[in-house]
Amino acid sequence: MVKVAVVTGSNKGIGLSIVKGLLKRFDGVVFLTARDDGRGKAAVAKLNELGLHPEYHQLDVTDRNSIARFADYIKEKYGGIDILVNNAGVFNATDLYLTYEESKEIIDINYFSYHIIQEYLYPLVRDNGRILNISSDCGHLSNLRNEYWIKKLSSRSLTVGEIDEFANWHLEAVKNGTFNKSDIADNGTVAAYRVAKVAVSALTRIQQKELEPRNISVNSMHPGLVRTEMTKGVGFFDADQAAETPLYLVLEAPHTLKGAYIWFDRQVLDWFDPNADWYFKCKTLSH
Ligand SMILES: NC(=O)c1ccc[n+]([C@@H]2O[C@H](COP(=O)([O-])OP(=O)(O)OC[C@H]3O[C@@H](n4cnc5c(N)ncnc54)[C@H](OP(=O)(O)O)[C@@H]3O)[C@@H](O)[C@H]2O)c1
Repeated sequence: MVKVAVVTGSNKGIGLSIVKGLLKRFDGVVFLTARDDGRGKAAVAKLNELGLHPEYHQLDVTDRNSIARFADYIKEKYGGIDILVNNAGVFNATDLYLTYEESKEIIDINYFSYHIIQEYLYPLVRDNGRILNISSDCGHLSNLRNEYWIKKLSSRSLTVGEIDEFANWHLEAVKNGTFNKSDIADNGTVAAYRVAKVAVSALTRIQQKELEPRNISVNSMHPGLVRTEMTKGVGFFDADQAAETPLYLVLEAPHTLKGAYIWFDRQVLDWFDPNADWYFKCKTLSH
């Protein structure tokens, strides 16, 4: 049986570097996927020049038809997936305080897309497989200041519906002009991105519970501040360096590591500590 790894949003940035690393270290087929065929195929051509040969498939994580087409293709050709890295993401803001349209796009792509991916691709993940959700330091619970949502999201009986409510609560507040900066750390900056990533890390715990019977591991991680197009080239690491911990997590980490929130240096953090100092500070962007 041929093993299969899939990375979403992998035509550039950290996703492309994860694909590169997998092509060198994973004994199986590696899928580079992209929402735009032109950008996807250009990335494949670049890897081919390096002597690396991923398989390519179009995949827009917000487009149900695109995901369904990809799922059918995988099912037909390989029967399943062994490693899935949910990496696709955007940060399209022009200011530290986002418009409703910007917030909606960020939350749709960075969080709500996980529901469609879960519906179509998770059933294809083979027993003992590994799923890695690329979150952020914006995804640690300490990015929240709102007591109600801190309590709700850290409850052991949290449901997916409640995480959706949290995401929609923020979108409604921005839409109605009632967004309260003091609900979010760092004076409410880049709030929609924090909400989306906190939602991803909270969802990871629920996904882990659901997939436990098949011994599939699901973790979320913060890749560090990385010099990619998303950060307009600001960061402490380049994309290849940032891909190292994701590669470790899907290839080498003990399989007992499950439902965890992991830092770029492989530290497993206590996601539930709302007073921790792990939240994103905008001032780091100017260093
Ligand atoms: N860079 C950092 O410092 C940093 C820090 C914390 C977390 N992260 C997270 O790390 C991940 C990768 O970020 P990056 O820095 O590598 O960003 P990037 O260079 O901007 O790459 C993002 C990738 O996601 C793709 N994408 C966006 N929307 C998509 C969609 N609807 N369907 C499929 N693919 C889509 C982009 O495709 P297009 O080229 O078509 O736009 C691109 O390939 C993201 O989840 C990000 O939130 C990054």
